[in-house]
Amino acid sequence: MASLAGRLLGLASLASAFVSRDGTGRLPAMGWNSWNEYECNISEGVFITVARQLVDLGLKDLGYEYVNIDDCWSDKELRRDATTGELIPDAEKFPRGIVKVAEEVHSLGLKLGIYSDAGTDTCGGYAGSLGYEELDAATFSKWGIDSEGQDLKYDNCNVPPEWADEYEYIPEEPANNAPPGYDWGTSNTAKRYRVMHDALQRQNRTIQYSLCAWGHAHVERWGNSTGHSWRMWGDIFPAWKGKEKWSWGLMPIVNQASLLWNYTDFGSHNDWDMLEVGNGDLTIEENRSHFALWCALKSALIVGTPLDTLALRKPILDILSNKELIDFNQDPVYGASAMPYKWGNGRPANTSDRDHPAAFWVGTSVKGIHVFLLNTHDTAVNMRAVFAEIPPLKSGGKGYLVHDMWTGEDLGIFRKYFELEVKAHDTAALTITKADGKHPNPRWSPK
Ligand code: GAL
Repeated sequence: MASLAGRLLGLASLASAFVSRDGTGRLPAMGWNSWNEYECNISEGVFITVARQLVDLGLKDLGYEYVNIDDCWSDKELRRDATTGELIPDAEKFPRGIVKVAEEVHSLGLKLGIYSDAGTDTCGGYAGSLGYEELDAATFSKWGIDSEGQDLKYDNCNVPPEWADEYEYIPEEPANNAPPGYDWGTSNTAKRYRVMHDALQRQNRTIQYSLCAWGHAHVERWGNSTGHSWRMWGDIFPAWKGKEKWSWGLMPIVNQASLLWNYTDFGSHNDWDMLEVGNGDLTIEENRSHFALWCALKSALIVGTPLDTLALRKPILDILSNKELIDFNQDPVYGASAMPYKWGNGRPANTSDRDHPAAFWVGTSVKGIHVFLLNTHDTAVNMRAVFAEIPPLKSGGKGYLVHDMWTGEDLGIFRKYFELEVKAHDTAALTITKADGKHPNPRWSPK
């Protein structure tokens, strides 16, 4: 636990976290990415439309600033220029090159993101950057044109045998064959990601570096010296529970987050994958839980739903626009993720359950203490935030003012506990202050 002053001082001296000089990567990234909804069906028009919509829908003003191109943007056959070796954008999808998209995106005050892979090929079979890190970093940098920041999402497919890791750690099937005390920061996976980190550092512009290592090789243990954020799990899928082998619903991801939330802080963020809010057949309650929990976990908020229909999907737009939740995610003073304080369902702390992960979470922000109550059940449940169970509120007090982050309304002053009905798969999001509205425990942090 650090004092507020200590915490602020600490910002300047975060030894290992990779906060760029201009502050890039200090807070979770916010923006949009093509993969979750468009996969390979992308074109210049998709990104230019998205950039305009981010502005028109008010999302830019809320902090969504990156327009990120995912896989399948380069020429699958030609791959690289025969003379320069540079990656070649697909001329049908991007007839004016990536440069023109960058110009359009920048002209709206937004930033462009691009995608590559720390292997020979991307997951979609397009040219990867392994062995070309210096050239590709310089190319991406050049395509950025002006001094705006960029984002590089760096994937993990098609690793050639000479780069295979000595040991294996895959979070979904944690058969860890490394000897005790093994330093995963020395693994070939860490080395592959570090080569690109070094190449990006040599560019004369800031690039937000997102490691898409799916939690492999315990990326959370070395990610903070290598990138601004790191993927912690396989690909997200718009479903409540698991779906297919490599596509995962929300609950297994939240379960993993309940065990590893504490690797996140300023400049170093677990990435629980891009948002599926608005996609598939997630119910409104499931969409609310997804957004509230990703905000609470301080995961990047990268929207993955079509924006050109979002004005018509008002309940989804409202979820993505919830300023109080975004403010928690982007808090300037407290960098830690929320943490589970009780698992629920009669389960002991720190145990894994992919259907019913930890249900009671607490975090802190400049506004107060925040409690998130996740109903993992298929029916409505009464859930109780018992103040004596919540670490920063344990000492009690004369009663706490409870505020609903979803509606923006104060719910009243409560002693001992606050109880409400939480619909099936919904998450209540509360701000708790002293009765006079002051922060109940500004010195407390989950870490
Ligand atoms: C996966 C990655 C996805 C998406 C996809 C593209 O490895 O986790 O988010 O980028 O590749 O092929």
